[in-house]
Amino acid sequence: MSAAADALFKDIESQFLLTRDQLAPIIKGFIEEFKHGLKTPSKGLATMIPSFVTKLPNGNETGTFLSMDLGGTNLRVSAVQLQGDGRVDVLEVKRAATTELKTGKGSVFFDWIADTVEELITKKARHLFSEEEVSAKKTLNLGVCWSFPVDQTAVDRGTVLRMGKGFTLEDVEGHDLADLMHAAFERKGLNVKLNAILNDTVGTLVAHAYSNPRTRIGLIFATGINAAYPEPVESITKLSKEKRDSYPAGTEMLLNTEIDIFGGDWYLPLTKYDKILDDNHNQPKFQLYEKMLSGAYMGELTRLIALDFIKAGALFGGHIPEGFGEAWSFPTANMSMFERDTTVNREKSMEILSNYQFVNSPTLEDIAILTRICRLVATRSAALASVAIAAMIEQQNLHNKTNNDIIVGVNGSTYEFYPFMEERMHRALREWFGVELSDRIRLEIAREGGSVGGALIAMLCRD
Ligand code: BGC
Repeated sequence: MSAAADALFKDIESQFLLTRDQLAPIIKGFIEEFKHGLKTPSKGLATMIPSFVTKLPNGNETGTFLSMDLGGTNLRVSAVQLQGDGRVDVLEVKRAATTELKTGKGSVFFDWIADTVEELITKKARHLFSEEEVSAKKTLNLGVCWSFPVDQTAVDRGTVLRMGKGFTLEDVEGHDLADLMHAAFERKGLNVKLNAILNDTVGTLVAHAYSNPRTRIGLIFATGINAAYPEPVESITKLSKEKRDSYPAGTEMLLNTEIDIFGGDWYLPLTKYDKILDDNHNQPKFQLYEKMLSGAYMGELTRLIALDFIKAGALFGGHIPEGFGEAWSFPTANMSMFERDTTVNREKSMEILSNYQFVNSPTLEDIAILTRICRLVATRSAALASVAIAAMIEQQNLHNKTNNDIIVGVNGSTYEFYPFMEERMHRALREWFGVELSDRIRLEIAREGGSVGGALIAMLCRD
């Protein structure tokens, strides 16, 4: 490797391989933000949003329920059959949200959702519903998992706050999600009642609690990042005293932390690459922590670092390949391929690079450099995601309170499909908590958190 590459790696490693000393201020900063969010009303860019979910399933619940799960890319509408013993069966209709839908009129977007719900009830899962339900004579209950911030005022009411993930819908922010959905159902003649709104993190926690009732954290690590955990109602002082007193003493409520929007530059170790990414983003200064680590951004961070190597003449012979110079032109999925590619001549990685045009063909050394950059970016992502877990363990005092395993339900493509992510997260947790405690932290995959969680909350909150 050239001296220029060596020097650059030294510099970048010192910024991206976070040591215990570098993790400490982030965890402290997160815990301070938890405390602040617990007392600050959920307006504007809200954090620590009460879900009004105070019950967790015990795994024995049964029945068929409807759920809808909207994430950054896909809409999933499902009929979820809870079979008891923590077992579920899900029938879903899945649709991709196009950029046109994501950036257009709210009413068109909600009509599209209503059409998908109708397709599920009248076609795909027709056999699971009664004649009255299909012909809209009887109301069907729906749990809506909304992977965006909502200021919840009750389990089934909530004002849509600013959406990330490329959504800029007209006439949606500031409106009640239940009203928007019911209006669309009415336009389609559907008799569907939204009786639970939940963030995907709350859905993940609840869905995982169905199979493991000891779950204490729900983490999403996908296009975005966020987490939920139970907090004693008496500590959630942003709720009125009257509201808090209406729950029996000792009740815990799931909180959507919206940890994605945590973090100012006073404690996040933002690098120059994070700052460039943020400056070029259509929502600058929003979700700074999320932009440092989640699936939507890892590829772009890798590309920005690679550009510095190219400029120093240490990569691709010093020429920016055509197609690589534009922002967002190196998707995170490419990184997975590079890190996973064990072929002798790195054929898979070469194939990815064939999407760009080179002055001189890329060499094995180029691929080794690019792969090492991917590893650095992904290792920092893992450490930063673990920091959220560590902060929630400390906030709940789980590390002192119990000798049992600490169960974290994790959902999301970045966690599930990015190579070595789980090992890297464990390594960061070990760095922070030491071997003994970190061995008790179980990161368990909570698949279909949104759909199953939505159905479970719809069931738990039925009137
Ligand atoms: C959203 C959260 C969501 C998270 C994970 C973030 O961008 O603001 O509401 O939970 O992504 O999907």
